[in-house]
Amino acid sequence: MDERTFTMPNGRLQDKIALVTGAASGIGRATVLRFAREGAHVIATDLNMQALQALAAEAGADTHPIVPVLCDVTKVDDTTRVVADAMAQYGRLDVLVNSAGITPRTVDPAADIATRWDAVMRVNARGTMLMCHAAVAAMQQNGGGSIVNIASIMGLVGYPTSLPFSDGFSAYPQSKGAVIQLTRDLGVRVAADGIRVNAVCPGFVYTALTANVTGDPAVHTKMQELHPMGRLGQPEEIANVILFLASDEASFVTGAAWTVDGGYTAE
Ligand SMILES: NC(=O)c1ccc[n+]([C@@H]2O[C@H](COP(=O)([O-])OP(=O)(O)OC[C@H]3O[C@@H](n4cnc5c(N)ncnc54)[C@H](O)[C@@H]3O)[C@@H](O)[C@H]2O)c1
Repeated sequence: MDERTFTMPNGRLQDKIALVTGAASGIGRATVLRFAREGAHVIATDLNMQALQALAAEAGADTHPIVPVLCDVTKVDDTTRVVADAMAQYGRLDVLVNSAGITPRTVDPAADIATRWDAVMRVNARGTMLMCHAAVAAMQQNGGGSIVNIASIMGLVGYPTSLPFSDGFSAYPQSKGAVIQLTRDLGVRVAADGIRVNAVCPGFVYTALTANVTGDPAVHTKMQELHPMGRLGQPEEIANVILFLASDEASFVTGAAWTVDGGYTAE
């Protein structure tokens, strides 16, 4: 590993140890880069090692090295291993960001409803829970930490009937509702341990996850109109809020679901 030392005294996550899942793309990727620039040691995990290595190569000379690690969040052994490795390497884990997620659009459309539902729930709900479970044990040893789960506005409201994304049986909003409730239930349970657990609920954001639907001009226009700001978000705009919740600036914030949605859920 690169032993380069780095000191930027005023980073908002200066020398914190942060682990990000789903780090190879979109919101997770933007979060890794932002955290690194704020002075954190970042362990960037995903299924896609090639993309993680490209991300690590983007770390500037004035950041700690970004450490790429393979981790499938649906696998118990992977989730416990990445946290154990972080503890062995750094002796603590301060921040966990759960950004790994999928939509039913990436699941075989020919599969039956139960198979499709399970596939999404496995990554979005079970994966987030397993990572929280592994991290909480480590953070209890630290005496505290901050977990930020990436849920969605679709965990708060139903899919708009004007969009062709759900027939009412999509696992996506159900999985994100589960993430928000995990956030609240775990948040109250570990508050006394100094561990904060919060969720971010983005509106529609330009990432690989939405690329296939924003590519349809009619659907794209409808998606834009659903946000009072008249546009979709950028991954960096979500990472900004994740950074705040991860940092000590959010020291009295826990069990909360923060919308970052251009006004979508306010209308
Ligand atoms: N893009 C949006 O409009 C939007 C809106 C609301 C919430 N979200 C949520 O934000 C999070 C990030 O989404 P994104 O838009 O950046 O998507 P993305 O597709 O760009 O990135 C998701 C990453 O998760 C990884 N991943 C998938 N399954 C995994 C697994 N089993 N283990 C580990 N990694 C896995 C993928 O390889 C990918 O790199 C997701 O939880 C998503 O549901 C996205």
